Amino acid sequence: MKIAVLVSGGGTNLQAIIDGINDGKITNTEIGLVYSNNPNAYAIERAKKAGIPYVVKSPKEFATRQEFNEALLQILLDAAPDLIVLAGCLVVIPKEVVRAFPNKIINIHPALIPSFCGTGFYGLKVHEKALERGVRVSGATVHFVDEGTDTGPIILQKPVMIRDDDTPETLQRRIMEQAEWKIMPMAIDLIANGKVKVNDHKVIIDGYDELVI
Ligand code: GRF
Repeated sequence: MKIAVLVSGGGTNLQAIIDGINDGKITNTEIGLVYSNNPNAYAIERAKKAGIPYVVKSPKEFATRQEFNEALLQILLDAAPDLIVLAGCLVVIPKEVVRAFPNKIINIHPALIPSFCGTGFYGLKVHEKALERGVRVSGATVHFVDEGTDTGPIILQKPVMIRDDDTPETLQRRIMEQAEWKIMPMAIDLIANGKVKVNDHKVIIDGYDELVI
């Protein structure tokens, strides 16, 4: 399975995918392209080090958002991935792209959807709101992308207990380490091996009850 990974920042989820392929946790998968909207994203350095082709194209390079959307769609159609992976991607995925790749785009969100998600909930903001609400458990979710924001069918989730001494930064780091970097590679491997289906907005995973998440 050929994947295209879309990034905007540090690329730790991209690194977890690269490492997962190298250590055999992710089988039957190759990264055909890394795309970033942000020329300064350290994720691009990670792609370079791993010898993965990359493209940087910022919305700022275009006169209108529609022109950027069309350019992004063309980049992805040219790459022709079997799966598009949003790994810390802060670009709103255009409807044209979602329609061109139905149930072929997955995203990692740093909370247990439907909590602390939707428009405006990204990065540290997610963890600030979780701590503000005083929840005892947060975590991460991998889901298919549909035309809403964080509303697509849920594939995998992993809980992370919140500590009394947590700050948004410590919580973000622990959720990345203990949840994101585990369930994103696992989801990709399951999809790459034909074990994931979507039926009426619900995800069915072969052997789900035996998974060690
Ligand atoms: C992660 O917390 C991820 O959940 C969110 O973006 C953050 C940065 O990810 N989508 P990365 O280090 O760029 O993979």
